[in-house]
Amino acid sequence: MKEYIRRRKKLFEMMDDQSMLFVFAGDLIKKSADATYPFEVNRNFYYLTGVDEPQAVLVLNKLNHEHQTWLFVRDIDPHLEKWNGKYMTQAQAQAISGIDTVYYLSQFKGLLQQRLTRNTIKHVYVDSERLSESDIQSTGEAFAQSLRKQWLLPVNNAYPLIAGLRAIKDELEIQKLKAAIDITNEAFLAMLRNTQSGKYEYELQAEFEYVLKKYNSKPAFDMIVAAGGRACILHYIENDQPIEADTLILTDVGATQAYYCADISRTFPSDGQFSDEQRTLMGVVLEAMDKVIEACQVGVTMAHLNRLVIEHYQERLVALGFIQAASEVRDVYYHGVSHMLGLDTHDVGYLDNAPLVAGNVITVEPGLYFESLNLGIRIEDNILITDAGPVNLSEHIIKTPAAIENYMQQNKPI
Ligand code: GLY
Ligand code: MN
Ligand code: MN
Repeated sequence: MKEYIRRRKKLFEMMDDQSMLFVFAGDLIKKSADATYPFEVNRNFYYLTGVDEPQAVLVLNKLNHEHQTWLFVRDIDPHLEKWNGKYMTQAQAQAISGIDTVYYLSQFKGLLQQRLTRNTIKHVYVDSERLSESDIQSTGEAFAQSLRKQWLLPVNNAYPLIAGLRAIKDELEIQKLKAAIDITNEAFLAMLRNTQSGKYEYELQAEFEYVLKKYNSKPAFDMIVAAGGRACILHYIENDQPIEADTLILTDVGATQAYYCADISRTFPSDGQFSDEQRTLMGVVLEAMDKVIEACQVGVTMAHLNRLVIEHYQERLVALGFIQAASEVRDVYYHGVSHMLGLDTHDVGYLDNAPLVAGNVITVEPGLYFESLNLGIRIEDNILITDAGPVNLSEHIIKTPAAIENYMQQNKPI
C-alpha cells in the first residue's frame, strides 16, 4: 500500500497545478457470445493502485498544490454478483490502494461535472493505454474529446509520465520479479527432467504450466518450445511437433507474480548430450551473454549492448568458419539483445538510444539461428541495473552445457 502512495506522489509531482489525471483499469473484453476473456488490468492503473478490478477509475486532483485522490469502483450489483462473483467493495479498494476517498462509478459523472464547472481546472491528463476498450460511461476517445469540446480543456497523455516511473523499479517490484523468476526456474527444471526425443513439444509445455498452476501463477506470454530448425522462428508458439533425436530445444518461457513477468530462454539437447557443434555454438552465445551482462552499466544504451553482440559474433563466427563474412551475422542473429521487463514482458521504458539508469530491469538475450544446421539457440537472463553494476536476477537458472548435461544425466525421465 505504501508503494502505491509513493508512486502516486511522484506522479502528482509531475502534474501541473490546477489539473486532473485519469487512469482507467479497463474492462472485460468479449470473446464470443456471452463469454469474455479473463480480465487483464491496465498495468498503469495497477501500478498506481494495486487494484485489479474491471472498470475502476483513478483520478488525481492537483488543486492549489494540494493533492486529492479519488478511486471509483463498480456499483455493487447483487444479481450479477450471484453469477460472476463478488465485486470489490469500497473498503477493500481502500485497504489495497491506500486511497481514502473511494466512490462508486455511478457518482463519477456528477463529481466530474461539479469539479469542472468550478472552472479551476486548467489541464487534464488521460492515460491512453485503455482508452478505446473501456466502456465506463463516456470514456474512450469520447471521454478525452468531451473534456476538450465541452470543457475546452487541453488534454495531455498521462502515459509517458507513468511509463517514466514504471521504468525504474522499486524494492517491491524487484521482489515480485524475483518471485516470478524463481517459479520459472522450478518450472524450467521440470521440463528438463522430462525431456526426451520422441515426445511432443507440447508435452514439455505441459510440465512447465503444471508448475505455474501449482503457484497460481500465469504465463507471462505464449511460451515457446521449439526443437530443431523451428527454433529459428522467433515467435514459434505452436509447440505441436515431435522432438527429433539429438536436436537442440529452445525454450523461451516466463511465469508471473502479481503481473510481474519473468522472461527466460534456455537451450538444451533432446537426449541430454550436446554434440561438438552444438556445444561450440552454445559457447559463442554464452560468451556474448557474459560480455553484454558485464556492460550493463548505468549510462549505457541498449543499442550499444546489441552492437557488442554483433561485433562478438562477427569475430567468432568467421574465425570458427560458421560464416564467411562479417556481414552475414544479420542472417543468423536477427533480433535485439535487450528490452525492458516489468509489469509487461516488453515493458514500458526507454528507446534503444536512451542511457540505462539504476532501477531499470532489462533482458539480455543473445541468440544464433542456423536453419542450415537445423538449430536455434537463445539464452536469456533478467538483469537489474544498479549504481554498483549489473545484478543478474536469473543467475541461478542453469544455462551452460556442462550444468545442463549434468542435471539431465542425473534426472533422466523414467
Ligand atoms: N519472450 C519474448 C522475448 O524474449 O522478448
Ligand atoms: Mn523471452
Ligand atoms: Mn525477452
